Amino acid sequence: MNTKPIVALDFSTSSEINHFLSEFKEESLFVKVGMELYYQNGPEIVKYIKSLGHEIFLDLKLHDIPNTVKRSMQGLAALDIDMINVHAAGGKEMMKAAMEGILAGTPAGSERPKLIAVTQLTSTTQEAMRTEQLIEVPLLQSVIHSAQLTQDSGLDGVVCSALEARLIKEQTTSNFLCVTPGIRLNGAEQGDQKRIATPIFAKENGASHIVVGRPITLAADPLTAYLAIKNQWNGVGN
Ligand code: C5P
Repeated sequence: MNTKPIVALDFSTSSEINHFLSEFKEESLFVKVGMELYYQNGPEIVKYIKSLGHEIFLDLKLHDIPNTVKRSMQGLAALDIDMINVHAAGGKEMMKAAMEGILAGTPAGSERPKLIAVTQLTSTTQEAMRTEQLIEVPLLQSVIHSAQLTQDSGLDGVVCSALEARLIKEQTTSNFLCVTPGIRLNGAEQGDQKRIATPIFAKENGASHIVVGRPITLAADPLTAYLAIKNQWNGVGN
């Protein structure tokens, strides 16, 4: 289990990033940079956040033909990031190619970033899966199958709901990562998240990392909110 909650930096400008990170001068964070921030600021924003000493999960969810994903991953791994992801729907050959790209691109002397996969987007419903993707099995079965395919492809883990983590752990090896968003402290604003869990539940249900956005980024005091979530995740003062 990673002791640092991953903070989702869902901002679009570098000045918002600067403002937010200025509160965390004493804390080395593990942050998530997603499409919104990356597509508007490019690799420079990743280099800047790394230069401040923070770890980065680059959440770009690559999904293309194997050769394109391999070459793209090679370039992204050169940014010396700590975690990155693909869509498992791209298939085994694509996931293996992604890992090859990572191994080729990781700077000498650095540890390669963890490579994880998205199984089914949480915005996909059972009904949409059946009528749009023509997949008749229950959603959870599809998620578990994708997790096993991900592990068979040599990847390190999946993004999943904390509610699914236990079942995924049972069907994969113990070191397989379950990175879980949708985290809220008890009684907190849910936003558009429907299937939420507390840090304690996520921990007990087998999550290896938690991803937390708005409960920290929109808090009146982000540092205090971060420390409260971090303490609960680490079982401090529970
Ligand atoms: O603000 P909140 O804590 O809901 O943010 C969660 C972060 O995790 C956001 O960046 C969101 O895009 C991401 N995410 C998610 N559910 C998934 C995959 C990613 O909420 N299944």
